[in-house]
Amino acid sequence: MADGWNSDLLKEVWRNAGVGLMVQDRNRRIIAVNPSFEEITGWRWKDIRGKRCDLVFGCRTAGGKSIPEDVCPGIRVINGEVPRIARELLINKDNGRECWVEVTVFPIKDSEGNAEYIVSTFQDISEKKRYSEELLRTKTLATLGQLAAELAHEVKNPLNAIQIQMQLIEQEISAHREFTKSHVPEITAKVKEEVIRLSVLVDNCLKFSRSSRLVLKSEAVGALLEDLVKLVAPQAGLNGVGIKLEIEKDLPRVTADGEKLKQALLNIVVNAFEAMPDGGTLTLSALRDGDAVKIISRDTGCGIPEDMKDNIFELFYTTKRDGTGIGLPLSQNIIQAHGGSLSCTSSDKGAEFIIELPLEKSC
Ligand SMILES: Nc1ncnc2c1ncn2[C@@H]1O[C@H](COP(=O)(O)OP(=O)(O)OP(=O)(O)O)[C@@H](O)[C@H]1O
Ligand SMILES: [Mg+2]
Repeated sequence: MADGWNSDLLKEVWRNAGVGLMVQDRNRRIIAVNPSFEEITGWRWKDIRGKRCDLVFGCRTAGGKSIPEDVCPGIRVINGEVPRIARELLINKDNGRECWVEVTVFPIKDSEGNAEYIVSTFQDISEKKRYSEELLRTKTLATLGQLAAELAHEVKNPLNAIQIQMQLIEQEISAHREFTKSHVPEITAKVKEEVIRLSVLVDNCLKFSRSSRLVLKSEAVGALLEDLVKLVAPQAGLNGVGIKLEIEKDLPRVTADGEKLKQALLNIVVNAFEAMPDGGTLTLSALRDGDAVKIISRDTGCGIPEDMKDNIFELFYTTKRDGTGIGLPLSQNIIQAHGGSLSCTSSDKGAEFIIELPLEKSC
């Protein structure tokens, strides 16, 4: 301990610290809390003294599920699995309400190096959570609003075409002319073509608006990427693209909707193939970066010109003859719904897409 420290000073720090502090024994029984803890959680020392934390807080994940014992941060620290751990948790307050807290747990070890006590710091992040959820909702709604407007615009042209074709049919009928075999099929084929165009558009619209509804569970990013590579390997072979997979050892798990995440990654991988029509290399890597897992897709294709970089995430923006411009905004929507981000860098050597996902939000 540094010079000048004494127990009175420590008591003052304990009393006035702006973060909630809780000390537990190795059976997770609460043996001390400071005033900030009482303020943040609403729990009074006299009501929780000696109780086990799980019986007080009933910790839950973002999806509202109770935290299984094997991923409880306290237990993981007591068992020496991790030296220190930080988690965002939904906990019960004393008044029957709940609140979001960021909890950091670390051990105080005995002379043999075993955790004798664990100390948890508590910070109220309810406001931060509300803000980011609201921001995400607003962004999604704004994008959907934009989609509706674009959709209306796109629907108008085929509808006009259908109308004109129908007028032609009417004219044929009103002139009492016999339908020749060559006229009628031609007209009906055009009508059908336009109707198909419309339904593809509506399907895409539905896919897009459903993209932010997630079924979350604990997922290993490495396994997801391996699945994805299995799926795209035949196509890569045909395109003359070699795939390199680099997954960091002991990569932590993420809370994710595996199928949706694969869909987001698939759009990025398909774009990479399309950017390398003469073959090349696609490197997919996954690594831990602070509180996030990063997934990077790097191709050796044509790259993205600087002045286009801002546009590629816009709905319906495409530079391809047969493109719809839905792939990247859809991927971005899915990744943002996970609380993550999608960004891109590019050079003359190719493009790089970086996905950042927060680490597993369970205990
Ligand atoms: N890896 C890449 N290399 C170069 N350009 C890319 C890459 N990925 C995306 N782009 C650019 O971004 C644009 C938008 O991509 P996005 O996936 O949203 O739509 P798209 O591929 O054109 O059509 P689709 O909806 O069918 O996927 C592409 O048209 C292309 O110009
Ligand atoms: Mg695409």
